[in-house]
Amino acid sequence: MSTQTEPLDNPADGKTGLFYPPHAQPLRGDEGFIHATWKFLRNPVEGFGPLAYNQPIVSVPNFGKKLHVITDPEGMMQVLQHEATKFTKTAIDARILGPATKEGLLSVHGEQWKRQRKAVAPMFRKRHMEDLAPIISTTLDAFCEGLDAEPDVELNAAMAELTFDVLAKALLGDPQGIDGERLKYATRNMVTSAGTLRPDDLIPFPAWVPRPISPKGSRALKKLKKAADVLIAQRKKSPVENDLVSLLIAARDPKTGEGLSAREQRDNLIGFFIAGHETTALTLTWALYLIGMHRPTAERIRAEVMAICPEGNVSYDQMAELKFTQAVIDETMRLYPPAPMLNRLCHEDTVVSGREIKAGDTFLLCNYVMHRTERLWDNPLAFDPDRFIRDPKLKAKGAPYMPFGAGPRICVGAAFATMEALMSLARLVRDYDVKIPEECYPKPLMTVTLRPQGGVPARMVRR
Ligand code: HEM
Repeated sequence: MSTQTEPLDNPADGKTGLFYPPHAQPLRGDEGFIHATWKFLRNPVEGFGPLAYNQPIVSVPNFGKKLHVITDPEGMMQVLQHEATKFTKTAIDARILGPATKEGLLSVHGEQWKRQRKAVAPMFRKRHMEDLAPIISTTLDAFCEGLDAEPDVELNAAMAELTFDVLAKALLGDPQGIDGERLKYATRNMVTSAGTLRPDDLIPFPAWVPRPISPKGSRALKKLKKAADVLIAQRKKSPVENDLVSLLIAARDPKTGEGLSAREQRDNLIGFFIAGHETTALTLTWALYLIGMHRPTAERIRAEVMAICPEGNVSYDQMAELKFTQAVIDETMRLYPPAPMLNRLCHEDTVVSGREIKAGDTFLLCNYVMHRTERLWDNPLAFDPDRFIRDPKLKAKGAPYMPFGAGPRICVGAAFATMEALMSLARLVRDYDVKIPEECYPKPLMTVTLRPQGGVPARMVRR
């Protein structure tokens, strides 16, 4: 079995047939402080060594306070769930996301968060998921036509197109008079320029210190806000049934009946676009990469999908039957959690994983490391979707698997993302051979989300 600190020379294990996909090279543990910090700043998931992989908590001094890295499920659950009221997100999130979505669910805290969460949660319930499945189907049909015309793609860019289009239709319905391309361009620009982690983001500036962004990012942000305002105004004038913007406008706290302010509506709309398309796109990108590199997985997915849905798209009701395809998505998010590191600021002294914590200390909750830790996982570096079928408890509450976070702030869009990923993967793998150059072995690079460094070139060959 490979260990966390050995480089993987040979990605294919001849004995078991398991595939060992790319991983971020951990620290050896004997580097000096400056080298380790430099690695962390360049690619945060490469900034952890044997201590973080072998211990539940690692603490280092941090500008007069402490920074604690948590990589075990108990500590994560304590911070994210059991003692969630003692923690808020740090100023890092506010600095990166604040300019775009300061008053949205992603960024707010306390009573404002509670009120918003209660108001928007019903939008993502099962009843609406069933309504949204046909939207995913029609978007997939159009996407596949595009692939047939142009089969050579860079997977990350192609999947971002797909998931953006799905989200735009789900959120906006059929947005007459809205320039969808412009909205897409503005959102993508915002995500790739202003919304990308930079070394200076890790300096603990207070949230009110402005974060300089490039003129391109700033223009994109302005356009995005304007487009969102126009959309909301339009919907208020002529309401449409069941698209998510109309639900956002109609959303009420079930207890108080209070709705969201105009600013909150806009910031949530932008927040959903930012949080909801890149993450699902990366899940699909990494999944297609793994499938393209491991033919037996492609064949098993194809057989499973053919047995229940030989043509067209998988329906909402058929999804539960795609056990192996779902396991591939679970395993993809274990190896490449799209949000690989969460953060929290402590507001009240406490004890976490046996360590005394003071108010003002910062936490990095690193699910990327937790998902690859030998003390918690069998053969953690191998791509082995069957582990989720062999042991369904791996997805239970408190298990060392948290791609959507945990506790009250767990991803509100998780059911939507899961449905979209499953329907898309089933259709794409059934209908296409994913051809990826053999030498393509992209390192996971954390830029807030976890992207394949340099992208993944692929040819999608219609079967
Ligand atoms: C595979 C896809 C996705 C992944 C892996 C993912 C992951 C996450 C994670 C880990 C969090 C918790 C952050 C924290 O606690 O600091 C989160 C929160 C959130 N996500 Fe997702 N997400 C995905 C898709 C989506 C989609 C499709 C939407 C909306 C359409 C969405 C909207 C949100 C929002 C609004 C929050 C903030 C919730 C709150 O603070 O109450 N996400 N997501």
